[in-house]
Amino acid sequence: MLKGKRILLIVCGGIAAFKCLDLIRRLRERGAAVRCILTEGGSQFVTPLSLAALSEDKVYSDIFSLTDESEMGHINLSREADLLVVAPATADMLAKMAMGIAGDLATTALLATDKPVMTVPAMNVRMWEHAATQANIATLDGRGVLRVGPVEGDMACGEYGEGRMADVPEILTAVEDFFAAGSQTGSHARPLAGQRALVTSGPTREPIDPVRFIANHSSGKQGHAIAGALARLGAETTLVTGPVSLPDPPGLSVVHIETAREMLAACKSALPVDVAVCAAAVADWRVKKSAAQKMKKNGGKPLPLELTENPDILRTLSQASGNRRPKLVVGFAAETENVVENAKKKRLRKGCDWLLANDVSPAQGTFGGDSNTLHLVDASGVEAWPTMSKTAAAERLARAVADHFAASLDDGPGAAADS
Ligand code: PMT
Repeated sequence: MLKGKRILLIVCGGIAAFKCLDLIRRLRERGAAVRCILTEGGSQFVTPLSLAALSEDKVYSDIFSLTDESEMGHINLSREADLLVVAPATADMLAKMAMGIAGDLATTALLATDKPVMTVPAMNVRMWEHAATQANIATLDGRGVLRVGPVEGDMACGEYGEGRMADVPEILTAVEDFFAAGSQTGSHARPLAGQRALVTSGPTREPIDPVRFIANHSSGKQGHAIAGALARLGAETTLVTGPVSLPDPPGLSVVHIETAREMLAACKSALPVDVAVCAAAVADWRVKKSAAQKMKKNGGKPLPLELTENPDILRTLSQASGNRRPKLVVGFAAETENVVENAKKKRLRKGCDWLLANDVSPAQGTFGGDSNTLHLVDASGVEAWPTMSKTAAAERLARAVADHFAASLDDGPGAAADS
Protein backbone atom coordinates (compact mmCIF):
# COMPACT_ATOMS: atom_id res chain seq x y z
CA MET A 1 0.00 0.00 0.00
CA LEU A 2 2.80 2.47 0.85
CA LYS A 3 5.34 1.18 -1.64
CA GLY A 4 7.44 4.01 -3.03
CA LYS A 5 5.83 6.69 -0.82
CA ARG A 6 8.18 9.18 0.83
CA ILE A 7 7.29 10.35 4.30
CA LEU A 8 8.98 13.18 6.14
CA LEU A 9 8.45 12.47 9.84
CA ILE A 10 8.89 15.50 12.12
CA VAL A 11 9.53 14.23 15.64
CA CYS A 12 8.73 16.81 18.34
CA GLY A 13 9.34 17.02 22.08
CA GLY A 14 6.74 14.92 23.88
CA ILE A 15 6.86 11.80 25.98
CA ALA A 16 5.04 9.95 23.17
CA ALA A 17 8.00 10.51 20.83
CA PHE A 18 9.09 6.95 21.54
CA LYS A 19 6.11 5.72 19.47
CA CYS A 20 7.80 7.24 16.41
CA LEU A 21 10.44 4.51 16.54
CA ASP A 22 7.83 1.81 15.98
CA LEU A 23 6.01 4.04 13.49
CA ILE A 24 9.13 4.28 11.32
CA ARG A 25 9.58 0.52 11.43
CA ARG A 26 5.93 -0.16 10.44
CA LEU A 27 5.90 2.46 7.67
CA ARG A 28 9.06 0.95 6.19
CA GLU A 29 7.64 -2.58 6.45
CA ARG A 30 4.82 -1.35 4.19
CA GLY A 31 7.28 -0.05 1.62
CA ALA A 32 7.49 3.65 2.53
CA ALA A 33 10.77 5.55 2.74
CA VAL A 34 10.97 7.60 5.94
CA ARG A 35 13.21 10.60 6.49
CA CYS A 36 13.22 12.35 9.88
CA ILE A 37 13.53 15.87 11.20
CA LEU A 38 14.15 15.86 14.96
CA THR A 39 13.34 19.05 16.88
CA GLU A 40 15.44 20.16 19.81
CA GLY A 41 12.61 19.11 22.17
CA GLY A 42 12.28 15.78 20.38
CA SER A 43 15.96 15.05 20.97
CA GLN A 44 15.25 15.06 24.73
CA PHE A 45 13.09 11.96 24.22
CA VAL A 46 14.62 10.01 21.31
CA THR A 47 18.14 10.09 19.90
CA PRO A 48 19.09 10.94 16.32
CA LEU A 49 20.96 7.65 16.28
CA SER A 50 17.80 5.57 16.92
CA LEU A 51 15.88 7.46 14.21
CA ALA A 52 18.78 7.13 11.75
CA ALA A 53 19.17 3.41 12.46
CA LEU A 54 15.46 2.68 11.96
CA SER A 55 14.95 4.93 8.95
CA GLU A 56 18.34 3.98 7.47
CA ASP A 57 18.70 7.61 6.53
CA LYS A 58 20.28 10.78 7.82
CA VAL A 59 18.36 12.68 10.51
CA TYR A 60 18.03 16.46 10.05
CA SER A 61 17.91 18.90 12.97
CA ASP A 62 19.83 22.05 12.23
CA ILE A 63 18.53 24.74 9.91
CA PHE A 64 21.91 26.43 9.80
CA SER A 65 23.89 23.31 8.89
CA LEU A 66 26.15 24.14 5.97
CA THR A 67 26.51 20.48 5.06
CA ASP A 68 22.79 19.75 5.11
CA GLU A 69 21.98 22.89 3.14
CA SER A 70 24.54 22.11 0.45
CA GLU A 71 23.41 18.46 0.24
CA MET A 72 19.65 18.92 0.33
CA GLY A 73 18.42 22.36 1.42
CA HIS A 74 15.52 22.71 3.80
CA ILE A 75 13.09 23.69 1.03
CA ASN A 76 13.84 20.51 -0.92
CA LEU A 77 13.66 18.48 2.27
CA SER A 78 10.09 19.67 2.77
CA ARG A 79 9.05 19.15 -0.84
CA GLU A 80 10.55 15.86 -1.87
CA ALA A 81 8.19 13.98 0.48
CA ASP A 82 4.69 12.82 -0.49
CA LEU A 83 3.40 13.46 3.02
CA LEU A 84 4.71 15.25 6.12
CA VAL A 85 3.75 13.65 9.45
CA VAL A 86 4.21 15.65 12.66
CA ALA A 87 4.32 13.37 15.74
CA PRO A 88 3.92 13.93 18.57
CA ALA A 89 2.41 17.26 17.54
CA THR A 90 2.82 19.25 20.76
CA ALA A 91 0.69 22.26 21.72
CA ASP A 92 3.73 24.41 20.98
CA MET A 93 4.21 22.95 17.51
CA LEU A 94 0.49 23.26 16.65
CA ALA A 95 0.54 26.91 17.75
CA LYS A 96 3.60 27.61 15.60
CA MET A 97 2.02 25.88 12.61
CA ALA A 98 -1.21 27.85 13.04
CA MET A 99 0.71 31.14 13.30
CA GLY A 100 3.18 30.35 10.50
CA ILE A 101 6.21 30.72 12.76
CA ALA A 102 9.40 29.41 11.17
CA GLY A 103 12.10 29.51 13.82
CA ASP A 104 13.83 26.16 13.34
CA LEU A 105 14.23 23.46 10.72
CA ALA A 106 10.94 21.68 11.52
CA THR A 107 8.73 24.79 11.44
CA THR A 108 10.54 26.18 8.40
CA ALA A 109 9.99 22.92 6.52
CA LEU A 110 6.30 23.00 7.49
CA LEU A 111 5.91 26.57 6.25
CA ALA A 112 7.86 25.95 3.04
CA THR A 113 6.17 22.73 2.02
CA ASP A 114 3.68 22.38 -0.80
CA LYS A 115 2.82 18.84 0.30
CA PRO A 116 0.00 17.55 2.54
CA VAL A 117 0.65 17.59 6.27
CA MET A 118 -0.75 15.22 8.91
CA THR A 119 -0.47 15.98 12.62
CA VAL A 120 -0.67 13.47 15.46
CA PRO A 121 -1.35 15.66 18.52
CA ALA A 122 -0.25 14.60 22.00
CA MET A 123 -0.37 16.67 25.16
CA ASN A 124 -1.90 16.98 28.61
CA VAL A 125 -5.71 17.02 28.58
CA ARG A 126 -5.92 20.59 29.95
CA MET A 127 -3.52 21.81 27.28
CA TRP A 128 -5.59 20.05 24.62
CA GLU A 129 -8.83 21.54 25.93
CA HIS A 130 -7.39 25.05 26.28
CA ALA A 131 -9.15 27.57 24.07
CA ALA A 132 -5.83 28.56 22.47
CA THR A 133 -5.08 24.99 21.37
CA GLN A 134 -8.63 24.46 20.14
CA ALA A 135 -8.45 27.68 18.12
CA ASN A 136 -5.15 26.54 16.60
CA ILE A 137 -6.63 23.14 15.75
CA ALA A 138 -9.65 24.80 14.14
CA THR A 139 -7.31 26.97 12.05
CA LEU A 140 -5.27 23.96 10.95
CA ASP A 141 -8.39 21.85 10.26
CA GLY A 142 -9.74 24.73 8.20
CA ARG A 143 -6.53 24.77 6.16
CA GLY A 144 -6.92 21.08 5.42
CA VAL A 145 -4.10 19.89 7.66
CA LEU A 146 -4.89 16.22 8.33
CA ARG A 147 -5.06 15.00 11.90
CA VAL A 148 -5.05 11.69 13.76
CA GLY A 149 -6.32 11.86 17.34
CA PRO A 150 -5.62 12.67 20.05
CA VAL A 151 -7.35 9.84 21.88
CA GLU A 152 -8.71 9.52 25.39
CA GLY A 153 -6.82 7.58 28.07
CA ASP A 154 -4.32 7.63 30.91
CA MET A 155 -1.54 10.13 30.49
CA ALA A 156 2.10 10.06 31.42
CA CYS A 157 1.42 13.02 33.77
CA GLY A 158 -1.04 10.90 35.79
CA GLU A 159 -4.20 12.61 34.50
CA TYR A 160 -6.91 11.01 32.39
CA GLY A 161 -8.61 12.44 29.32
CA GLU A 162 -8.27 13.38 25.68
CA GLY A 163 -4.71 14.19 24.68
CA ARG A 164 -2.93 10.84 24.32
CA MET A 165 -1.12 10.37 21.05
CA ALA A 166 -2.90 7.88 18.76
CA ASP A 167 -1.32 4.45 18.68
CA VAL A 168 0.82 3.35 15.77
CA PRO A 169 -1.85 1.14 14.07
CA GLU A 170 -4.24 4.10 14.04
CA ILE A 171 -1.60 6.37 12.50
CA LEU A 172 -0.76 3.73 9.89
CA THR A 173 -4.45 3.42 8.96
CA ALA A 174 -4.71 7.19 8.55
CA VAL A 175 -1.60 7.29 6.35
CA GLU A 176 -2.86 4.38 4.26
CA ASP A 177 -6.32 5.93 3.94
CA PHE A 178 -4.73 9.15 2.86
CA PHE A 179 -2.83 7.49 0.04
CA ALA A 180 -5.79 5.23 -0.83
CA ALA A 181 -7.97 8.33 -1.20
CA GLY A 182 -5.63 9.55 -3.91
CA SER A 183 -5.01 12.90 -2.22
CA GLN A 184 -1.26 12.46 -2.58
CA THR A 185 -1.31 14.01 -6.01
CA GLY A 186 -0.97 17.16 -3.92
CA SER A 187 -3.18 19.63 -2.22
CA HIS A 188 -1.76 22.12 -4.69
CA ALA A 189 -3.18 20.42 -7.77
CA ARG A 190 -6.40 22.27 -8.65
CA PRO A 191 -8.52 19.85 -10.69
CA LEU A 192 -11.70 21.74 -9.76
CA ALA A 193 -10.46 25.10 -11.06
CA GLY A 194 -13.24 26.71 -13.08
CA GLN A 195 -15.97 24.77 -11.24
CA ARG A 196 -18.42 26.27 -8.77
CA ALA A 197 -19.37 24.49 -5.55
CA LEU A 198 -22.07 25.02 -2.93
CA VAL A 199 -21.88 23.41 0.53
CA THR A 200 -24.37 23.57 3.39
CA SER A 201 -23.10 23.03 6.92
CA GLY A 202 -24.07 23.18 10.58
CA PRO A 203 -27.52 23.18 12.20
CA THR A 204 -30.43 25.47 11.56
CA ARG A 205 -32.24 27.26 14.37
CA GLU A 206 -35.99 27.49 14.19
CA PRO A 207 -37.39 30.10 16.56
CA ILE A 208 -40.05 29.23 19.13
CA ASP A 209 -40.08 32.75 20.54
CA PRO A 210 -37.48 35.57 20.56
CA VAL A 211 -35.19 33.65 22.96
CA ARG A 212 -35.81 29.94 22.30
CA PHE A 213 -35.32 27.75 19.28
CA ILE A 214 -35.36 24.18 17.89
CA ALA A 215 -31.89 23.01 16.80
CA ASN A 216 -29.55 20.01 16.90
CA HIS A 217 -25.97 19.06 17.79
CA SER A 218 -24.31 19.66 14.40
CA SER A 219 -20.98 21.43 14.87
CA GLY A 220 -20.36 22.17 11.19
CA LYS A 221 -17.03 20.31 11.31
CA GLN A 222 -17.93 17.95 8.46
CA GLY A 223 -19.53 20.55 6.18
CA HIS A 224 -16.83 23.17 6.77
CA ALA A 225 -14.11 20.60 6.04
CA ILE A 226 -15.83 19.70 2.76
CA ALA A 227 -16.11 23.34 1.70
CA GLY A 228 -12.42 23.85 2.50
CA ALA A 229 -11.40 20.70 0.61
CA LEU A 230 -13.37 21.67 -2.52
CA ALA A 231 -11.90 25.18 -2.42
CA ARG A 232 -8.36 23.81 -2.08
CA LEU A 233 -8.93 21.73 -5.21
CA GLY A 234 -9.71 24.98 -7.01
CA ALA A 235 -13.55 25.17 -6.88
CA GLU A 236 -15.08 28.61 -6.40
CA THR A 237 -16.95 27.66 -3.26
CA THR A 238 -19.91 29.12 -1.36
CA LEU A 239 -20.48 27.79 2.14
CA VAL A 240 -23.95 28.37 3.58
CA THR A 241 -23.77 27.71 7.29
CA GLY A 242 -26.02 27.70 10.30
CA PRO A 243 -24.72 28.98 13.64
CA VAL A 244 -21.47 27.18 14.59
CA SER A 245 -18.45 28.13 16.65
CA LEU A 246 -15.93 27.36 13.88
CA PRO A 247 -14.03 30.13 12.12
CA ASP A 248 -14.94 30.76 8.47
CA PRO A 249 -12.65 28.62 6.29
CA PRO A 250 -10.26 30.78 4.26
CA GLY A 251 -10.53 31.22 0.49
CA LEU A 252 -14.27 30.86 0.01
CA SER A 253 -17.44 32.90 0.44
CA VAL A 254 -19.42 32.19 3.55
CA VAL A 255 -23.10 33.01 4.04
CA HIS A 256 -24.35 32.84 7.64
CA ILE A 257 -28.00 31.92 8.15
CA GLU A 258 -30.19 30.82 11.05
CA THR A 259 -33.28 29.08 9.69
CA ALA A 260 -33.95 26.44 7.03
CA ARG A 261 -35.84 28.96 4.94
CA GLU A 262 -32.88 31.35 5.06
CA MET A 263 -30.58 28.47 4.10
CA LEU A 264 -32.76 27.65 1.10
CA ALA A 265 -32.80 31.29 -0.03
CA ALA A 266 -28.99 31.53 0.29
CA CYS A 267 -28.52 28.29 -1.66
CA LYS A 268 -30.83 29.47 -4.43
CA SER A 269 -28.90 32.72 -4.79
CA ALA A 270 -25.62 30.78 -5.08
CA LEU A 271 -26.92 28.92 -8.18
CA PRO A 272 -25.88 27.92 -10.76
CA VAL A 273 -23.13 25.66 -9.39
CA ASP A 274 -21.46 22.52 -10.71
CA VAL A 275 -21.59 20.59 -7.46
CA ALA A 276 -23.73 20.96 -4.34
CA VAL A 277 -22.99 19.12 -1.10
CA CYS A 278 -25.70 19.26 1.58
CA ALA A 279 -23.98 18.38 4.86
CA ALA A 280 -26.13 20.65 7.05
CA ALA A 281 -28.41 19.15 9.67
CA VAL A 282 -31.46 21.15 8.62
CA ALA A 283 -34.36 21.09 11.07
CA ASP A 284 -37.15 19.14 9.41
CA TRP A 285 -39.78 21.21 11.22
CA ARG A 286 -40.29 24.73 12.46
CA VAL A 287 -42.87 26.18 14.79
CA LYS A 288 -45.81 27.21 12.62
CA LYS A 289 -46.19 30.55 14.31
CA SER A 290 -43.32 31.60 16.53
CA ALA A 291 -44.31 33.92 19.37
CA ALA A 292 -43.48 37.60 19.05
CA GLN A 293 -42.78 37.87 22.81
CA LYS A 294 -41.07 35.50 25.27
CA MET A 295 -43.58 32.79 26.06
CA LYS A 296 -44.79 32.39 29.63
CA LYS A 297 -45.31 29.14 31.54
CA ASN A 298 -48.77 27.68 31.07
CA GLY A 299 -49.78 27.32 34.74
CA GLY A 300 -48.35 23.79 34.90
CA LYS A 301 -50.32 22.71 31.80
CA PRO A 302 -48.53 21.30 28.72
CA LEU A 303 -47.68 23.90 26.12
CA PRO A 304 -48.84 22.91 22.62
CA LEU A 305 -46.40 23.79 19.83
CA GLU A 306 -47.70 23.34 16.31
CA LEU A 307 -44.93 22.31 13.94
CA THR A 308 -44.87 22.60 10.18
CA GLU A 309 -42.43 21.05 7.71
CA ASN A 310 -39.46 23.05 6.50
CA PRO A 311 -38.52 23.21 2.82
CA ASP A 312 -36.16 20.41 1.79
CA ILE A 313 -33.05 22.07 0.40
CA LEU A 314 -31.42 18.91 -0.93
CA ARG A 315 -34.57 17.88 -2.75
CA THR A 316 -35.09 21.38 -4.12
CA LEU A 317 -31.54 21.43 -5.55
CA SER A 318 -31.91 17.89 -6.93
CA GLN A 319 -35.17 18.73 -8.65
CA ALA A 320 -34.14 22.14 -10.00
CA SER A 321 -34.67 22.45 -13.71
CA GLY A 322 -32.24 23.26 -16.51
CA ASN A 323 -28.83 24.61 -15.61
CA ARG A 324 -30.06 25.48 -12.10
CA ARG A 325 -29.67 21.81 -11.21
CA PRO A 326 -26.06 21.25 -10.13
CA LYS A 327 -24.36 18.64 -12.32
CA LEU A 328 -23.62 16.66 -9.19
CA VAL A 329 -25.83 16.81 -6.09
CA VAL A 330 -24.46 15.16 -2.94
CA GLY A 331 -26.50 14.70 0.21
CA PHE A 332 -25.87 13.16 3.60
CA ALA A 333 -28.08 10.68 5.44
CA ALA A 334 -28.03 10.90 9.21
CA GLU A 335 -29.39 7.57 10.40
CA THR A 336 -29.61 5.76 13.72
CA GLU A 337 -30.57 2.32 12.35
CA ASN A 338 -30.37 0.36 9.06
CA VAL A 339 -27.93 3.02 7.91
CA VAL A 340 -27.21 1.82 4.37
CA GLU A 341 -30.69 0.53 3.54
CA ASN A 342 -32.33 3.75 4.75
CA ALA A 343 -29.76 5.80 2.83
CA LYS A 344 -30.50 3.96 -0.42
CA LYS A 345 -34.20 4.82 -0.06
CA LYS A 346 -33.40 8.39 0.99
CA ARG A 347 -31.23 8.93 -2.13
CA LEU A 348 -34.12 7.95 -4.38
CA ARG A 349 -36.63 10.03 -2.39
CA LYS A 350 -34.46 13.14 -2.48
CA GLY A 351 -33.33 12.67 -6.09
CA CYS A 352 -29.66 13.40 -5.41
CA ASP A 353 -26.77 11.66 -7.20
CA TRP A 354 -24.63 10.63 -4.24
CA LEU A 355 -25.58 10.18 -0.62
CA LEU A 356 -23.08 9.85 2.21
CA ALA A 357 -24.64 7.81 4.99
CA ASN A 358 -23.46 8.13 8.57
CA ASP A 359 -24.62 6.62 11.83
CA VAL A 360 -25.55 9.46 14.19
CA SER A 361 -26.48 7.34 17.22
CA PRO A 362 -25.07 9.17 20.27
CA ALA A 363 -22.60 6.32 20.94
CA GLN A 364 -20.93 6.98 17.57
CA GLY A 365 -20.10 10.59 18.46
CA THR A 366 -20.63 11.68 14.84
CA PHE A 367 -22.42 14.92 15.73
CA GLY A 368 -19.73 17.25 17.01
CA GLY A 369 -16.96 14.63 16.90
CA ASP A 370 -13.77 14.71 14.86
CA SER A 371 -14.19 11.50 12.89
CA ASN A 372 -16.81 9.95 10.67
CA THR A 373 -17.61 6.52 9.21
CA LEU A 374 -19.32 6.96 5.88
CA HIS A 375 -20.90 4.86 3.15
CA LEU A 376 -21.07 6.47 -0.28
CA VAL A 377 -24.32 5.40 -1.96
CA ASP A 378 -24.87 6.10 -5.65
CA ALA A 379 -26.80 4.55 -8.54
CA SER A 380 -24.13 1.89 -9.00
CA GLY A 381 -23.95 0.65 -5.41
CA VAL A 382 -22.40 1.30 -2.03
CA GLU A 383 -18.78 2.06 -1.12
CA ALA A 384 -17.84 1.67 2.57
CA TRP A 385 -15.25 4.19 3.72
CA PRO A 386 -13.15 3.36 6.79
CA THR A 387 -13.50 5.51 9.89
CA MET A 388 -11.39 8.61 9.34
CA SER A 389 -11.12 12.20 10.51
CA LYS A 390 -13.75 14.56 9.10
CA THR A 391 -10.92 16.40 7.34
CA ALA A 392 -9.77 13.18 5.65
CA ALA A 393 -13.36 12.31 4.70
CA ALA A 394 -13.75 15.77 3.18
CA GLU A 395 -10.52 15.36 1.19
CA ARG A 396 -11.72 11.99 -0.06
CA LEU A 397 -15.08 13.39 -1.12
CA ALA A 398 -13.49 16.40 -2.86
CA ARG A 399 -11.13 14.07 -4.70
CA ALA A 400 -14.07 11.84 -5.74
CA VAL A 401 -15.91 14.92 -7.06
CA ALA A 402 -12.82 15.95 -9.06
CA ASP A 403 -12.43 12.41 -10.45
CA HIS A 404 -16.12 12.33 -11.34
CA PHE A 405 -15.87 15.56 -13.34
CA ALA A 406 -12.63 14.41 -14.99
CA ALA A 407 -14.32 11.13 -16.01
CA SER A 408 -17.41 12.89 -17.34
CA LEU A 409 -15.19 15.15 -19.47
CA ASP A 410 -13.62 12.01 -20.91
CA ASP A 411 -17.09 10.60 -21.61
CA GLY A 412 -18.22 13.73 -23.41
CA PRO A 413 -20.67 16.55 -22.59
CA GLY A 414 -23.73 15.68 -20.52
CA ALA A 415 -22.15 12.64 -18.92
CA ALA A 416 -22.05 14.19 -15.46
CA ALA A 417 -25.84 14.18 -15.27
CA ASP A 418 -25.91 10.41 -15.81
CA SER A 419 -24.42 9.60 -12.42
O1 PMT B 1 -21.76 19.03 11.79
P1 PMT B 1 -21.01 17.87 12.41
O2 PMT B 1 -21.00 17.92 13.92
O3 PMT B 1 -19.62 17.72 11.81
O4 PMT B 1 -21.79 16.52 12.05
C1 PMT B 1 -21.86 16.10 10.73
C2 PMT B 1 -23.30 15.65 10.36
C3 PMT B 1 -23.69 14.45 11.20
C4 PMT B 1 -24.29 16.79 10.59
C5 PMT B 1 -23.26 15.29 8.83
O5 PMT B 1 -22.31 14.28 8.61
C6 PMT B 1 -24.61 14.84 8.33
O6 PMT B 1 -25.01 13.69 8.44
N1 PMT B 1 -25.39 15.81 7.76
C7 PMT B 1 -26.81 15.57 7.37
C8 PMT B 1 -27.69 15.69 8.57
C9 PMT B 1 -29.16 15.51 8.23
O7 PMT B 1 -29.92 16.39 8.43
O8 PMT B 1 -29.44 14.32 7.67
P2 PMT B 1 -30.95 13.88 7.20
O9 PMT B 1 -30.83 12.42 6.94
O10 PMT B 1 -31.97 14.34 8.16
O11 PMT B 1 -31.15 14.67 5.84
C10 PMT B 1 -30.82 14.09 4.57
C11 PMT B 1 -30.24 15.15 3.67
O12 PMT B 1 -31.23 16.13 3.38
C12 PMT B 1 -29.04 15.90 4.23
O13 PMT B 1 -28.14 16.11 3.16
C13 PMT B 1 -29.63 17.23 4.70
O14 PMT B 1 -28.69 18.29 4.59
C14 PMT B 1 -30.76 17.43 3.70
N2 PMT B 1 -31.90 18.19 4.20
C15 PMT B 1 -32.68 17.69 5.20
C16 PMT B 1 -33.80 18.41 5.60
C17 PMT B 1 -34.09 19.61 4.97
N3 PMT B 1 -35.16 20.31 5.35
N4 PMT B 1 -33.32 20.08 4.00
C18 PMT B 1 -32.22 19.39 3.59
O15 PMT B 1 -31.49 19.82 2.69
